[in-house]
Amino acid sequence: MSKSPKLLDDLSGKNFLVAGAAGFVPSYVCENYLKKGARVVGLDNFITGSKSNVEILNNYENFDFHEVNIYESLPDFGDIKFDYILSLASPASPIDFKIIPLEIMRVNSEGTLNLLELAKEHNSVFLEASTSEVYGDPEVHPQVESYVGHVNPIGPRSCYDESKRFAEAMTMSFKNKYNVDTRIIRIFNTYGPRMRPNDGRVIPNFINQALRGDDITIYGDGSQTRSFSFVTDLVNAMEHVLMLGDHMPYNIGNPDEYSIKEAAEIIVKSIGSDSKLTYCDLPKDDPKRRRPVIDRVASLGYGPVVTFEEGLRETAEFFKNFRS
Ligand SMILES: NC(=O)c1ccc[n+]([C@@H]2O[C@H](COP(=O)([O-])OP(=O)(O)OC[C@H]3O[C@@H](n4cnc5c(N)ncnc54)[C@H](O)[C@@H]3O)[C@@H](O)[C@H]2O)c1
Repeated sequence: MSKSPKLLDDLSGKNFLVAGAAGFVPSYVCENYLKKGARVVGLDNFITGSKSNVEILNNYENFDFHEVNIYESLPDFGDIKFDYILSLASPASPIDFKIIPLEIMRVNSEGTLNLLELAKEHNSVFLEASTSEVYGDPEVHPQVESYVGHVNPIGPRSCYDESKRFAEAMTMSFKNKYNVDTRIIRIFNTYGPRMRPNDGRVIPNFINQALRGDDITIYGDGSQTRSFSFVTDLVNAMEHVLMLGDHMPYNIGNPDEYSIKEAAEIIVKSIGSDSKLTYCDLPKDDPKRRRPVIDRVASLGYGPVVTFEEGLRETAEFFKNFRS
């Protein structure tokens, strides 16, 4: 009987380059591989990342860091040959889309190009962290990877959505033209400790409002849905795709779907807050429904394990300490 392939516990001798290492998700990704004995080189310009995340990573002797803007140039890495290059550097919050749209477009285009060129030179496995935003405001529900999306190319989210679509197209072109061993993951809403408290994304917003006892601001009537994945589940799914997957896109997320109103109620209850729900206008192009079909990544042996309630408890704990 054939056994399905498993992830390795020991990655000693393997070299990883992680672009965006000071960010929320990438800092967990780095830690995962450092704990398995790999050498990890992190790159970041701190546009949305945090020095405290790099301080955590500096506790591992196999971690090196370069402060650099990856769309300007990459540092000289000396003799090191990267086995894996992870393209995770991009601001990802709607508040960033308004303030730094051109930086977002450049990192996902020119930055990704620089990393792909390096992957070609080093013969590395390359992973592009794309997003569920490539589906736009989807007309197909739940979303399967074969759905090509419904994105407004000139809308308020387009700097992010379209540049991630471009990054996917460029990744596919390096696979097709140069046979680079590529992966594309489409990440759905992910939350957890180390997010910025003023990040603007729904979970940190609601948790911080609930901790302060402020009203919880819901955009629209709160019937729009999202599926929330805890960050450690995402890291695990990403590793399955990196080590065991192929070049076609993988949805990464948790298929449990909540309306925004339900999510707010769960957060208020789990924090024991007396915050009330209030309603304001829905922003333009805000997707009405989001839920991933994760059959492709599940076929690699992945399944989410952290419940929404558990993940929220851990995230709320982080924000409580952050505030004290
Ligand atoms: N968190 C999510 O829910 C989510 C969902 C979909 C996709 N993603 C993708 O996952 C990746 C990480 O997202 P995150 O939520 O952790 O965001 P984040 O903003 O915390 O992390 C991104 C990091 O990239 C760095 N960066 C940005 N531009 C750079 C540049 N030009 N040069 C060097 N570093 C640069 C930032 O300083 C930051 O540390 C991003 O590619 C994002 O698009 C995240």
